[in-house]
Amino acid sequence: MAVLLNGRRLAKSLAPGLRVRIAALQRAPGLAVIQVGEDPASSVYVKRKRARAERLGFHQVSLHLSADISQESLEAQVDALNADDTVDAILVQLPLPAHLDSTAILDRIQPDKDVDGFHPWSAGLLSQGRPHLVPCTPRGVMVMLADAEVSLSGANAVVIGRSNIVGRPMAMLLEQANATVTVCHSRTRNVAEIVGRADVVVAAVGRPGFVQGSWLKEGAVVVDVGINRLDDGSLCGDVEFASAEARASYITPVPGGVGPMTIAMLMENTVRAAEERQSS
Ligand code: GUN
Repeated sequence: MAVLLNGRRLAKSLAPGLRVRIAALQRAPGLAVIQVGEDPASSVYVKRKRARAERLGFHQVSLHLSADISQESLEAQVDALNADDTVDAILVQLPLPAHLDSTAILDRIQPDKDVDGFHPWSAGLLSQGRPHLVPCTPRGVMVMLADAEVSLSGANAVVIGRSNIVGRPMAMLLEQANATVTVCHSRTRNVAEIVGRADVVVAAVGRPGFVQGSWLKEGAVVVDVGINRLDDGSLCGDVEFASAEARASYITPVPGGVGPMTIAMLMENTVRAAEERQSS
């Protein structure tokens, strides 16, 4: 039976260290969050991010914009936040409504305020192994693995999913920790067989219960990034939990696994951006 990787507890344990760093700043770290429209999942995530930022005493700018905002108006909002000296970090909650060009919006965020690490400058630095601000979810996964003292050097790691938000940066971080990394995606053949060779599996596909326990090597470490809402309103990961728990050595629950770590890393990235901006 696997040991649960408790992201909620780990995220909480990081707060005191963060408070010390915040106290050393000349002014409170400034986090701006832009939400466009009423996507229910986005509303939940934004609320959680704001609540955590509030508890840490951040200066916050919250923009909740209408779903029919134009590209030009949204870009003007980003420009204003870029120019606002009290704002150290800018987050645009994804997904944006379909009529908007997300890439152009993310490209417009000043790289030193790119708290999500989605700007090509941040992604390029990460790909070269000299990371600046690293996407929050994969970074949170690395902190969880380190906390559990999971040995990555020489390990076979399989990442399922190749998004710019999770899969791609996750693969880079694992590779930079000296794992041998395989990335699976929607066109991959024999995903089960590939997962069966993995010492570490990170599932980020957005399909409830996609990874089955029977695929896993005995003793594998299983990280479930999926947050899927089922018809009955309950949350479920990308891993079939009961069967996976029986074979894994460590496994992250959903909820209470990776989710709280994403928010903790957002707070840490905001403090980091503030430290760098305030010392320059
Ligand atoms: N939507 C899903 N995950 C994320 C994330 O990490 N950051 C932002 N901005 N939007 C998201």
